[in-house]
Amino acid sequence: MTALKDSPLVLGFETSCDETGVGIVRGNTLLADAVASSVEEHARFGGVVPEVASRAHLEAMVPTVQRALSDAGVTLADIDAIAVTAGPGLAGALLVGAAAAKAYALALDKPIYGVNHLAAHICVDQLEHGPLPEGCVAMLVSGGHSSLLFVPDVTGDVQPLGQTIDDAAGEAFDKVARVLGLGFPGGPLIDKAAREGDPEAIAFPRGLTGPRDAPLDFSFSGLKTAVARWVERRERAGDKIPLADVAASFQEAVVDVLTRKAILACKESGADHLLIGGGVAANSRLRVLAEERAAKAGIRVRVPRPNLCTDNGAMVAALGSELVRRGRTPSHLDFPSDSSQAVVDVVVR
Ligand code: KG4
Ligand code: ZN
Repeated sequence: MTALKDSPLVLGFETSCDETGVGIVRGNTLLADAVASSVEEHARFGGVVPEVASRAHLEAMVPTVQRALSDAGVTLADIDAIAVTAGPGLAGALLVGAAAAKAYALALDKPIYGVNHLAAHICVDQLEHGPLPEGCVAMLVSGGHSSLLFVPDVTGDVQPLGQTIDDAAGEAFDKVARVLGLGFPGGPLIDKAAREGDPEAIAFPRGLTGPRDAPLDFSFSGLKTAVARWVERRERAGDKIPLADVAASFQEAVVDVLTRKAILACKESGADHLLIGGGVAANSRLRVLAEERAAKAGIRVRVPRPNLCTDNGAMVAALGSELVRRGRTPSHLDFPSDSSQAVVDVVVR
C-alpha cells in the first residue's frame, strides 16, 4: 500500500480537443506519452471540427493505449489507477476519452479520477522539474484557454486570477496565421516566420493594458482585427506584405501582454514561481521574454518541454498520480464530462 501511495502507476487519457493522448507515469516519473493527433484532418478547415475530432479519438484510442503500454514496458494488469480529462473541452471528444477510461477502470477494477484539463496542464511540470512549489502562479495559454491562476494545491485549490474575455492566445495565433496565409495550426508557423522579422516594425495594440482595464484579464480579439486591417490596407494599396515583420510584431504584442500580466499576478499574490503551460508556452519568444522579465522581478520560471506543453495524456496521468499520493477520493464511475468545467473543480465526483 505504501508503495502504491508513493509511486502509483497511473494511466492517463486526454481527448479534450484534437489530440488522443495516453500517458503512463509512475509517481513523478514519465514512462510513456503516446499521442495521436488529428490536426491534419482539420487543417483544410482552418480550425478543429468537433465531429471529426471525436471520430478520430474513437479510431485512435485502442492503438494509442497499446503504444503507451509498450513504450512504458508495462501491462494493463500493472496499472494502479486511471485518470481522464473530464473537462473543459469539446463535448463529444471528452465523451470518447471518458468512455474509454471508464471501460478500462471497470475491466481492471481500479479507481478512476475525472480531472480538470487545466490542472493537468499545471501538474505535468512535476514530471520534468519535480514537485510544484506551494502557491505558484500558473499561466495557461493554448488554443482553448488563456488563464492566470494561483495554485496553492494543484489537487484541490486552484484559484482563477484572470482570463481572456474573448479569444484565447493560441486562437489569435491561429487566426492571424490564416490572415497571413501561413496554414494551421498557426502558432509554430508564426513563431518561425517571426525569427526573421522586426518585433518593433509595427506597433500593434496591447489589449486590456489601460489604467481602467482589469489588470489580470486578457483580450486578443482587437489585436487580431488590427493585424487583419493592417494587412488589408497594404493589399489594397498593392504593397507587398512584410510577412516576417507582421508575424514578429503581432507575436511581440501577445507575449508582451502575457508576460507583463503574469509577472503582475506573481507580485500581487506573493508567488516567487511562475509556471507556464499550454500550447502557446512552446513559443520561443514567450519563453525568452518571460525569463527576462521574471529574472528582473526575482521570480523563477518553470516551463515544461514543448511536447508536454501541448495536450497529452502524460499530464493527466501526472495529476492522477498526485491525487493518489495525496489520498484524494476517486470519482464515481458515472461521473459526468463537462465541456465548460470550472477551473476550481479539479476532480469531478
Ligand atoms: O494546448 P494545445 O495543444 O491545445 C489546446 O488545448 O488548445 O494548444 C494548441 C495551440 C494552438 O493554437 C497553436 O497555434 C498554439 O497552441 N501553439 C503555439 C506554438 N505552438 C503551438 N503558439 C505560439 N507559438 C508556438 N510555438
Ligand atoms: Zn490544453
